[in-house]
Amino acid sequence: MSTEAAASDPYNGLLQVEPTLPSHVYWSADDYQRDLAAIWYRNWVLACRAADVAQPLAWRTVRIGTQDIVVLRDETGALQAFHNTCRHRGSQLCQGEAGRLKARLITCPYHSWSYSLRGDLVRVPSKSLPEGFSKADYPLYRVAIAEWRGFIFVNLADAPAPIEEAFDPASSDLSNWPLESLVSGHVFRKTMACNWKIFWENFNECLHCPNVHPHLSKLVPIYGRGLMARHDDPDWARHADNDAPEFSGKLRDGAETWSEDGRAHGPVFEGLTERERAAGQTYAVSLPSMFVVGHVDYVRVVRLVPLGPEETELTAEWLFPPQALQEDNTDIGNIVAFGVRVMEEDAAVCEINQRGLKSIRHEAGVLMPEEYDLHRFHNWVRAQHGNSPAPR
Ligand code: FES
Ligand SMILES: [Fe+2]
Repeated sequence: MSTEAAASDPYNGLLQVEPTLPSHVYWSADDYQRDLAAIWYRNWVLACRAADVAQPLAWRTVRIGTQDIVVLRDETGALQAFHNTCRHRGSQLCQGEAGRLKARLITCPYHSWSYSLRGDLVRVPSKSLPEGFSKADYPLYRVAIAEWRGFIFVNLADAPAPIEEAFDPASSDLSNWPLESLVSGHVFRKTMACNWKIFWENFNECLHCPNVHPHLSKLVPIYGRGLMARHDDPDWARHADNDAPEFSGKLRDGAETWSEDGRAHGPVFEGLTERERAAGQTYAVSLPSMFVVGHVDYVRVVRLVPLGPEETELTAEWLFPPQALQEDNTDIGNIVAFGVRVMEEDAAVCEINQRGLKSIRHEAGVLMPEEYDLHRFHNWVRAQHGNSPAPR
């Protein structure tokens, strides 16, 4: 989703016919494996919040496509990530979603090989070792891990780019939001019967908003026009000085945030600029796995996990300043209900989109001018595939 462009920016819309990606990339098993190899196993992917592994020895498992990763905090407080796979005969190491190790060792549940929290093999319980066997040759398979402003990302590539490059420079960096110190108020999880790219396509346009999101379209009047930003309108110059929400992209008059009644919960963030406060929503996007949307009083993080060619898990988490969730102030239902409705509406339409794509006649679709960000997403996908070796 675009944020409001500067007044000098030209019209955003597409000027020529652009095809979508071919239909088979949304459902074929081969294309799904190609996406995993070229995109999901080569980019930074959101794993969890740093607070989810706050204590030394805390661990968490993370799925990325078919890959099972364990993220943990070692005894020195450093973050580590490994494939959740034993070097002996490949057993899974940590089972379940999260836990805390009892000792400074990861011990395989099968034949009890033990690894230090830096992944070194330290104990093999066999009575003798074969000639030429050296424990140093069998460390856990390391995975790159990085913390970005309270969020933990992992990357399965051998030599990943810096984490800062994981964010779309056309989106905001939310640098004025105190992301590190926010705490979780609510988590919503849903498995959607659609390819992961369908989710991002839907995210990247608001042509569907008047039809699919009647409530949201009232709160953000420009969405009610099927547009995301002022410069999406071919006629934008005629309204360039008009500050009304349907042209500027601001929230409807009187609304402060994305909530059922438009009211904020608890304190508003102090460091926001006038423009950020007025914008109503500011997005930071990291393909392929997540976006964060900043409002004046909270942020919402949406994380994707591809589960199969036609199955994607969505997890949304609402993060607030700690004082917004203290005893007498815990009712965030006004905010959660609004976001859940929007996500349910989007998930439903993504699933409908997915179901139509199997037609043997529908080789590809075509984009309309408002879908310029979707075109940018398609080009990103094409570039990712162009840059990658053949799938294993
Ligand atoms: S598979 Fe892990 S110790 Fe045997
Ligand atoms: Fe939507």
